[in-house]
This record gives sequence, structure tokens and C-alpha cells, in this order.
Amino acid sequence: MNLNSLAIIGTQWGDEGKGKITNFLARKADFVVRYQGGNNAGHSIIVNNKKFSLHLLPSGIFYKNVTNVLANGVVVDLFGLIDELEKLKQNNFNDFKLIISDRAHVVFPYHKEIDGLLEKAKAKDSIGTTKQGIGPAYTDKASRIGIRIIDLFDDKYLKQRLQENIILKNALLKTLKIDYEINFTSLYAKIIEARAKIKDYVKDTAKIVYDAINLNKRVLFEGAQGVLLCLDHGTYPFVTSSSPTASSIPLNVGIPCNYINEVLGIVKAYTTRVGNGVFLTEINDQIASKIRIKGNEFGTTTGRARRIGWFDATLIRYAKRINGITKISITLLDVLSGLDQVKIAINYRLDGKIIDSIPLLAKNLARVEIEYLTLKGWKEDISNVKSFDQLPLNAKQYLKTIEKYSEIKIAQFSVGPKAEQTIEVLKIW
Ligand code: GDP
Ligand code: IMO
Ligand code: MG
Repeated sequence: MNLNSLAIIGTQWGDEGKGKITNFLARKADFVVRYQGGNNAGHSIIVNNKKFSLHLLPSGIFYKNVTNVLANGVVVDLFGLIDELEKLKQNNFNDFKLIISDRAHVVFPYHKEIDGLLEKAKAKDSIGTTKQGIGPAYTDKASRIGIRIIDLFDDKYLKQRLQENIILKNALLKTLKIDYEINFTSLYAKIIEARAKIKDYVKDTAKIVYDAINLNKRVLFEGAQGVLLCLDHGTYPFVTSSSPTASSIPLNVGIPCNYINEVLGIVKAYTTRVGNGVFLTEINDQIASKIRIKGNEFGTTTGRARRIGWFDATLIRYAKRINGITKISITLLDVLSGLDQVKIAINYRLDGKIIDSIPLLAKNLARVEIEYLTLKGWKEDISNVKSFDQLPLNAKQYLKTIEKYSEIKIAQFSVGPKAEQTIEVLKIW
């Protein structure tokens, strides 16, 4: 079968520029599907010279011919979604196509409250979540007490489920010694008002995407977060509560596992992480501050300063193995312009042997030795470059070295936040 489906995967700890690349590729797409996470994601896109931060809405939303899908694996903050839709309309984007899975689970304000309180209770061991209620909402889904989008439209069932949940949550809040109780009546009234605003978007998205792929439509799967934040394959427990991997797409969308034929890994030209947890190539010097300012490395969702580190090839090889990445897109290359030297971590060694992933135990982490290559930097501003050939020699060398040690072909590189600052080296679709 000749399929036109393409998965877009963050290969590091999120914020690789997935939104920008998805928006760029979506000009040729029929569908853009968000399949996991919720509004913990922050995908920045520039449209008509204006910056938009999308949290739940897929990055194809600005094209009127693209159907944007929130699939069953997404957790949908009902009120957050309505705010995002309103912002879109305020900016005169009224002509968009959106469908929301009837099976997706809903994030309620109490999930956010609990997220924040659990973080507070963990004190110095906190994960550094976005406090968007993602963990508590997926916990409810797995505990089989969650409320799905479709349940919002069955009054009797909704009331019963919500009441049961509120009893449990209020008990938890009491245990956490919080002087606050969720009020059923006011929450229920807000839900009733909100559900009317999303009613027309609710569909059996699994069937729609399945049919679209069978009709050879061009379907993009837009990942949120990144592989190292995966609940299963990331740096547990400092991860999110879903799986941002390509393997999670079939389950999270409701399509067969052989329906994805290309996997594009989005790779930042250096590494960032927001939140706590291991970061072996992290730097805290003046170079880090320079990169943070030039790359505007402050969280799209929370505004937190992102941690900065050198490019880490072991992570990209790991992401390739876990996801079956077929090509990569290098983003934010322009941010490195002006540095005297740039470093690339090519290998981790433990007891002298090369290892192919981050060790799981803290006692081993402390013993990892990192092998770096140091390359000459480049001074030129590259933000107007239109081809690989136009890059300064040292920037070319940097990309070639990344390609060599990542062991994946570079299909694109990006030299600025705008769509037209994306240079295609190999055809993706
Ligand atoms: P996402 O979560 O993976 O979609 O990434 P974010 O939007 O959270 O973070 C990426 C940031 O880099 C955003 O501010 C983008 O506007 C910006 N960006 C994306 N690609 C480039 C690039 O090639 N160069 C520069 N300078 N900025 C970029
Ligand atoms: P995008 O899609 C970067 C991080 C949080 C925290 C951990 C758990 O924009 O790349 P959560 O709120 O999910 O329970 O937080 O995961 N995190 C992200 N970091 N980009 C994201 O999304 C993230 N979504 C969650 O900072 O460390
Ligand atoms: Mg982001």
C-alpha cells in the first residue's frame, strides 16, 4: 500500500520546533492529527508575521483545507480549548476544520489543582510539570474513572461520574491539607455551557482518519513533547504521562500499526530541557545564556527558562531506534551563529564501554563519561540562507557531523522561526 502518512516526532525533551515544521509541511496536508498530550504542549508558529502559541489545536489549523484532529489519545482541557478557539477567532481565523475524538478524555480544573498540589508536596523532588493537569487526567483514564468527551453529552451519566470524581478529589485535597473543596453545582453549570461550544466538532475520529489514509489522503501526525519525556521510554520519573513516540500513534489514533510510512524526527541543533531530571550535556555558563537569549528559550506554556546543553548524538540514535525515524529536520541552527566553538557529544561511556541510552539508575548516571567533539563555530548570520550551499563552511561541517553521529539523513534544516526559513535538502513528501 502506498500511504501518505507522516509522523512528526520530537527527539529530545520537547520544544524542538515541531509546531513550526508541522505548520510548514501542513501546506501540503489534508489532515493534521494531534495524538497525545494536552495543553502541556506549546507549539509556536508564525503566521502573517504574528506569533501564535498553540497548546491543543493542531498546527494545521491556519489552513482552511486541512482537517485538524484531536485524537483519542489527547487529554482535552475543555475550558483551555474554548479559550484557544476564541483567540483564533479574535485573530480572524474563522474558517478552519477541527474534529475532536468522542473517546478523548477531558481535563477539568480539579486536575490542574491536583497537579500543582502534588508538585508542591514533592517539594525538591518535584517533576517540574506544566501544572496543566496532564498527569492527574491520564491517571483517571488509567484508573477508569475518567470522563470522555462523549460523556459530556449524557446528562445522567455525566452528573453521576462528576459527583463520584468530586468525592474522591475532595478527599485527596483534604489529605493534602488544602482548605478548598470542588463545588459540583458551579462546575457542572460551566461544563454545560462549554459543551455546547464544542458539540459540532465531536466525531469518531478513528474512523475518519482510517478512511482518509485508505483514500491516500496526506496525513500528518503531530507529536507533542519528545521521546525523552515518554512515560515508557523517557527519563522516568521526570517525564510526561503519555507516550510521544511513533509507536503510540496507532493506539492513540485508532488506526492499524502499519499505517505510518515515514517518521520525521525533529532535532534542535543543540539540546534543551524544561523541568527537572537528568541532562548529561547541560551547560550553565555564558554560552548557555547566549543561546537561551538568542533562541528565546523560555517555555511557551509556562514561561520558564529552558535549560541548555550541547547537541547529544546518543539521544538522537536512541530516538531513531525507539521510533523508526527515517529522516531528521534540524531546527534553530541560526541560534548557534556567533559562537567561537560548538560541541557535539558523540558517545556516552560507562566503564570504558559505549552505551546506547541514558542509564536508568542515578548511581550509574554519575559515572557516565561523555565523549565530545569540538568544532569551529561560524560568525555569519545565516537566517537568510536559502540552501545548504549558502551556509558558511563551519555550519556545513556542523550539520554533516550531526548527520554522521545521529546516523540519520538530514531532510531539512531551519534557520529561523518562519515557515520560509525552512530549507529542504531531501524531499519528505
Ligand atoms: P515545539 O514545542 O516543538 O513546537 O517547539 P516550541 O514552539 O515550544 O519552541 C521552539 C521555538 O523555536 C519557538 O519559539 C519557535 O518559534 C522557534 N523556532 C523554530 N524553529 C526555529 C529556527 O529554526 N530558528 C529560530 N531562531 N527559532 C526557531
Ligand atoms: P512541547 O509539545 C517541553 C515537561 C514538563 C515536565 C514534564 C512533565 O511544547 O514540546 P507535564 O505537565 O507533561 O506533566 O510535565 O514534561 N513537558 C514539556 N517540556 N515541551 C513540552 O511540550 C512539554 N510538555 C511537558 O516541563 O518536565
Ligand atoms: Mg513547545
